[in-house]
Amino acid sequence: MTTAPVDTRSTTSLLEVRDLKKHFPVRVGGREQTLRAVDGVSFSINRGETLGVIGESGCGKSTVARLVVGLMKPSDGTVEVDGGDIWARGQEGRERRLGLQMVFQDPASSMDPRRTVGQAIAEPLRARRARTSDDRIAEVLSLVGLKPEMAGRMPHQLSGGQQQRAAIARSLIANPSLVVHDESIASLDISIQAQILNLIVDLQDRLGVSYLFISHDLAAVQAISHRIVVMYLGEIVEAATSEQFVARPLHPYSVALRASALTPDPRIERHRDSVVLEGDVPSPLFPPSGCRFRTRCPLAQKICEEIKPPLAPAGDGRMVSCHFPGEAKLTIQEVPR
Ligand SMILES: Nc1ncnc2c1ncn2[C@@H]1O[C@H](COP(=O)(O)OP(=O)(O)OP(=O)(O)O)[C@@H](O)[C@H]1O
Ligand code: SF4
Ligand SMILES: [Mg+2]
Repeated sequence: MTTAPVDTRSTTSLLEVRDLKKHFPVRVGGREQTLRAVDGVSFSINRGETLGVIGESGCGKSTVARLVVGLMKPSDGTVEVDGGDIWARGQEGRERRLGLQMVFQDPASSMDPRRTVGQAIAEPLRARRARTSDDRIAEVLSLVGLKPEMAGRMPHQLSGGQQQRAAIARSLIANPSLVVHDESIASLDISIQAQILNLIVDLQDRLGVSYLFISHDLAAVQAISHRIVVMYLGEIVEAATSEQFVARPLHPYSVALRASALTPDPRIERHRDSVVLEGDVPSPLFPPSGCRFRTRCPLAQKICEEIKPPLAPAGDGRMVSCHFPGEAKLTIQEVPR
């Protein structure tokens, strides 16, 4: 991974997410149950900062993404931009939501196939009833490394990488304060992924935009993010700077994710002594009592079943929710040559 986050961060908080919840009513066996997709998540993002979100499938990452950009309302909790609720009544809330953009996994399906690329890119300006001009479209196309004539093409005439560049151009045309990337590199070829990651970092450097960057790919998240939060079953289990996370994850689940993402060197693989993730994430319909990770955690004790560990400070600004933080091992022993 060639990318490295430039330090574009200011100390001013842009986004404040407080105790955010999304509970879906679902019918199971004829009875209505509550699916806790997001269950009390809090974090902040500063101006010019990238917060990475990792976690296995179904942990609630995309639900957080949709809540943060105002594509759905929370069941509880708040999302604030510049100190104001994005669901404030009337024009005030609407303006704040329009300042938030999202880039999705599949660029082809996020663009209307009957509209030109230029029309698709201009869409956030139309939503704001702002003036659209060919010059502005050409400007954002050039910002993402595409030629101005791409504006007249149809989405299917572009390659996957070009489509995702166009989607990024669309996300930036109305000068948003925050762009959420939800698996935005996942459907691209590996070589294109690196180019798009570099572009995302470069654009932040130039424009000072903040990102919430969600990905299954831990290496990409580590490469691009200033800070990282780890989600498990609708909750944040660890929050740390990228450097802290790379050097030493503290939650057993983070340790397991780090271990599974390490370079698959067969010599090292054989000598790995770390938490191995087995089994599936339990259903968010019936989360385990106490610590939600306890059914898969090799360190689980009686207390883990009985008492839910709070997300608590663990030194140097880190937060961890575990009764035994730092006790899971991530030891990779080099084999002597
Ligand atoms: N509209 C909905 N109605 C009911 N359940 C939902 C809805 N949307 C999401 N869920 C459930 O909420 C949980 C979290 O889903 P979400 O898509 O946020 O996970 P994710 O972390 O983004 O997963 P992935 O990595 O696969 O994209 C899942 O159990 C999912 O089935
Ligand atoms: S609280 Fe217990 S079960 Fe949960 S992660 Fe920590 S050690 Fe494992
Ligand atoms: Mg998702």
